[in-house]
Amino acid sequence: MGDLQIEMLHGKDQGTQLLHHPDRVTVEGLIHRSLEAKEFSYCPYSNFRVGAALLAHDDRVFTGCNVENACNNLGVCAERNAISKAVSEGCRSFKAIAIASDLHDQFISPCGGCRQFMREFGASWDVYLTKPDGSYIEMNVSELLPVSFGPEDLSMKKVVKIPNEY
Ligand code: THU
Repeated sequence: MGDLQIEMLHGKDQGTQLLHHPDRVTVEGLIHRSLEAKEFSYCPYSNFRVGAALLAHDDRVFTGCNVENACNNLGVCAERNAISKAVSEGCRSFKAIAIASDLHDQFISPCGGCRQFMREFGASWDVYLTKPDGSYIEMNVSELLPVSFGPEDLSMKKVVKIPNEY
């Protein structure tokens, strides 16, 4: 792949949003909320608690935890739960999300499905992967999901025109 293509992909993934990072106090507060949200985790099958706290563009915070189910595949991750709560209250623009788990030695890493779910609402917002002691690493959505597929791709030029009715 040539330089130009790499540049174009980068540009596409970054979008046109201005990069704005929340300040340290805000980040620490958000992480605190994700740790609190983890307490509500319903995970009788995995015993793996996850919490998330999502900071919206208007500074509202939406929290979520993982909610498992006896019918295994119906379980919902903490991140998706928080994002769905926000969207269902009219909020679709986000600055950051903090994710918490009980892993002692590792920063919790969001699953692939949650990365794609985040990507739906932009590629250049912050994701804080945390440990229970509040330490964290900061990444953004496009770092977690490079060369991603997003809503804009659906309206890109296609080689064939699909008729509405077959
Ligand atoms: N889980 C999340 O809530 N978020 C992630 O990003 C990773 C996994 C949950 C799903 C399931 O309830 C449990 O952790 C074990 O996979």
